[in-house]
Amino acid sequence: MHIDIITVHPQLLQSPFAHSIMKRAIQKGLATINVVDLRNYGIDAHKKVDDYAFGGGAGMVMMIEPIANCIDDLKSKRHYDEIIYMTPDGETLTQNTCNRLSTLKNIIVLCGHYKGIDERLREHYITKEISIGDYVLSGGELPAAVLCDAVIRLIPGVLNDETSALSDSFQDNLLSPPVYTRPAEYNGWKVPDILLSGNTKKVEEWRHEQAIERTKLRRPDLLQ
Ligand code: ADE
Repeated sequence: MHIDIITVHPQLLQSPFAHSIMKRAIQKGLATINVVDLRNYGIDAHKKVDDYAFGGGAGMVMMIEPIANCIDDLKSKRHYDEIIYMTPDGETLTQNTCNRLSTLKNIIVLCGHYKGIDERLREHYITKEISIGDYVLSGGELPAAVLCDAVIRLIPGVLNDETSALSDSFQDNLLSPPVYTRPAEYNGWKVPDILLSGNTKKVEEWRHEQAIERTKLRRPDLLQ
C-alpha cells in the first residue's frame, strides 16, 4: 500500500513511521509513506497556503490552489483509490473502515489546519472525510498518523502473528479479554487459575466469555 500524506508540518509525521510496527511494515516493503510538504506548492514568494475567510471571522482557510496543484501532481504519477481529508466533521473512524482501507493500493491523506480547507476542494477532490473522534486537534497530522497506524497493521504480513490483528478489540464487535503475564501471583493478586491450566479449549472459552462480559459492561452499544 502506498500513502501520500499532504501536510504543512512534515516534521510532525517523521517519528510515527520511524518506530515499531509501521517502521517494520515500511522496511518489509508492505507500506510506503510519502510525506508531501504543501509549502512546496505555496503561492508567490511567501509560499502562501492559506488566506482570510470570505465573509469575515477569525481563522485562516487553506487555499484551493496549493492543494489542487499538489493533488494533481500526485495524480499524474498514480491512480488513487481514495483521497481522504482528516477533519473533525468527517465520519468517525471505525475498525470496519480501517479493514476496508487496508485493502487499497494508493491513497492520499490530506491534513487540515486553521479553519479547514476551502469547501470547493471537499466537493471536487476529496472522496472521503474522516474524524478520529469528537474533539478538535490543532491539525490533521496526528489524526493522519492514527489512521495510518490503524490501517497499516492490518496489511497481511505486517504483524508477525497473523492472528493477532484478528483478535484485536472491535474486530468482532467485542472488546478484548483481560490479559496477564508473570508472575502468577503479585502482592497476593492472583492470575485466574484457568489461564494456568494448560487447557487451550477452556482458555479460549474463558476469553470469549470475558470479552462478552467486558463489552456488555463497557460498550453495550457494540452488542446491538
Ligand atoms: N483535525 C482536527 N481534529 C480532528 C479530528 N478529531 N479528527 C480528524 N482530523 C482532525
